Amino acid sequence: MGGSYSYKGKHVVLGVTGGIAAYKVPEFIRILQRHEITVEVVMTKAACEFVTPLTFREITGLPVHTEMFTPPVQWRTAHISLARKADLVAVIPATANIIGKIAAGIADDLLTTTIMATRAPVLLAPAMNTAMYENPIFRRNLETLAALNYRIVPAASGDLLCGEKGSGRLPSLDVLEEEVLRLLTPKDLAGKRLLITAGPTREYLDPVRFITNDSSGRMGYALAKEAYRRGGEVTLVTGKTSLPCPPGVRTLPVTTTGELYEAVMAEFPAAEIIIMAGAPTDFAPATASSRKIKKTEEEALAPLGLRLTPDVARAVGEKKGGRFLVIFAAETNDLVPNAREKLARKHADLAVANDLTEEGAGFQHPTNKVTLVTREEMKELPLMSKEEVAKEIIATILRLQEGKGL
Ligand SMILES: Cc1cc2nc3c(=O)[nH]c(=O)nc-3n(C[C@H](O)[C@H](O)[C@H](O)COP(=O)(O)O)c2cc1C
Repeated sequence: MGGSYSYKGKHVVLGVTGGIAAYKVPEFIRILQRHEITVEVVMTKAACEFVTPLTFREITGLPVHTEMFTPPVQWRTAHISLARKADLVAVIPATANIIGKIAAGIADDLLTTTIMATRAPVLLAPAMNTAMYENPIFRRNLETLAALNYRIVPAASGDLLCGEKGSGRLPSLDVLEEEVLRLLTPKDLAGKRLLITAGPTREYLDPVRFITNDSSGRMGYALAKEAYRRGGEVTLVTGKTSLPCPPGVRTLPVTTTGELYEAVMAEFPAAEIIIMAGAPTDFAPATASSRKIKKTEEEALAPLGLRLTPDVARAVGEKKGGRFLVIFAAETNDLVPNAREKLARKHADLAVANDLTEEGAGFQHPTNKVTLVTREEMKELPLMSKEEVAKEIIATILRLQEGKGL
């Protein structure tokens, strides 16, 4: 299938250096292994003071490389072999020392020599005490490496183990996972701008009460993450959800359907692909009270009528020109005819239809079971995670843009 890819069999050479954050790396390897990535560890001498090679050997099921010269020697040219088989070399955590050595062209142990010898992308995740992180020599070295296309993951801020508060923490494992996956993903959306909506909107009756729906935002967030991984420039307009902002994605929060409409109308002209995975609330109270309605105020409730909110997808569809518009159609009956009618009415190019009565599909579930519908074709996908659905949707958009069918 065009546009599909897998991380299975990808080889990450993971360099571990002598920073206190090394204790987080075994857990990180488990996360990469869930994507069926093979991880092979190289440790500096200092790293072995923090975590034992035994831990990494047991987790990876592979020998852990610590020495360039002393036995046991796996290959005569261990560094070349590692450098060649790597799809990515990642140094997590990266000490001030190794950053300085790489920037200066020093190759005096197995890890620095492997980095010197590889043609694969190199990711560096520096972590250290704030004073070290702000040291001008370190900053200069980091800038040198960034200018040479080393991928630097900026450290996070917060409480450091040395007792200080500030920059220098290893970023969360979620952020590191995203960075690694992105470097291993084909960039078939490079140079393309996407606008994606996600989550529910709210329509207020008074300052504390509102009408909404059960959308979790997961589908739109999964699409935003997937599009970013594939090299897209992504803007995510999101209603209120409990999900963390996807790294690398420009996120614009909105509350009401009116705000969603304003944000989407302002942003869509700059996008080539628009995916409306959000769930706007279609009705709003005809009048809203500016103060909390009291239980005793029956007269305030009696005239409570509803009005329609703006149809955001349709408004985009009417002005979309050559842009590619994807809509979601959550239905409880006549899935394909309803989706096709919606597709025509909103001038969309692809409808992602799901039957809300199906087990494991739609709002709140981590899974979804969707049918892809165009004017000419339809394709039913099996029950899969929302991340897998996102992958299929992006692959489908790319195929349709190339003039191929579903
Ligand atoms: C307890 C302890 C914690 C350390 N934590 C860090 C750290 O978080 N980041 C860092 O850059 N260096 C840290 N260092 C200093 C490095 O271990 C030292 O610079 C070492 O030479 C790094 O060697 P490597 O880059 O070859 O692993 C720490 C040292 C000690 C003793």
